[in-house]
Amino acid sequence: MPVKLRPATPADVPHLERWDHEPHVIAATSDDPEADVAFEDAEWLEEVSNDDPASAYLIAEIDGRPIGAMQVIDPALERTHYWGKDCPPNLCAMDIWIGEADCLGNGYGTEMMTIAINRAFADPKVEAIVIDPLNSNTDAHRFYQRLGFRPTGRRLFDDDDCLVHRLDRADWRFGDADA
Ligand SMILES: CC(C)(COP(=O)(O)OP(=O)(O)OC[C@H]1O[C@@H](n2cnc3c(N)ncnc32)[C@H](O)[C@@H]1OP(=O)(O)O)[C@@H](O)C(=O)NCCC(=O)NCCS
Repeated sequence: MPVKLRPATPADVPHLERWDHEPHVIAATSDDPEADVAFEDAEWLEEVSNDDPASAYLIAEIDGRPIGAMQVIDPALERTHYWGKDCPPNLCAMDIWIGEADCLGNGYGTEMMTIAINRAFADPKVEAIVIDPLNSNTDAHRFYQRLGFRPTGRRLFDDDDCLVHRLDRADWRFGDADA
């Protein structure tokens, strides 16, 4: 597999900040047509340096070139309680964005998800992966559903109208790929 998925470090902050200004990343994070930055509240140095054991930022590289990022959390334990204080245990929540526009649609996102899902399901306690694309991001819905995710319902996260998707362990078909 050409994609390497490694922990983010402070040296990745310039890429993360640059990717926040890419139109395709902005479109995936806000329905506001006036939005000019993605993840506007993110202080990336703080985010990648955070010591929350229930949250990890990962960077995808192709031949040493950073191309995108993921956040992988335990949504029941993660400190901001983004998924709500009543979130059940034994789930893993993910977010993914390819920052480099020339790397979209080349299968890299599928590889990133495959690696991250295999790592998550390597923990026998993890029952399912959950993900919260905007309801408007139909390209991403197709991407997730091809991996086996199923939509479970609309949900507002702050002002974001999302269509939550869930991948149960029994529905994961790509478990032989490199973890
Ligand atoms: C979603 C995303 C990670 C998929 O990775 P990818 O490497 O582009 O996708 P792959 O080549 O593995 O698979 C192709 C599928 O990705 C989806 N896709 C492609 N470009 C996309 C884009 N700009 N935005 C969202 N999804 C896209 C489509 O479903 C596409 O399938 P199609 O051929 O039926 O149109 C990537 O496109 C991306 O980062 N998009 C912008 C951010 C985003 O939407 N993140 C998800 C938010 S929850």
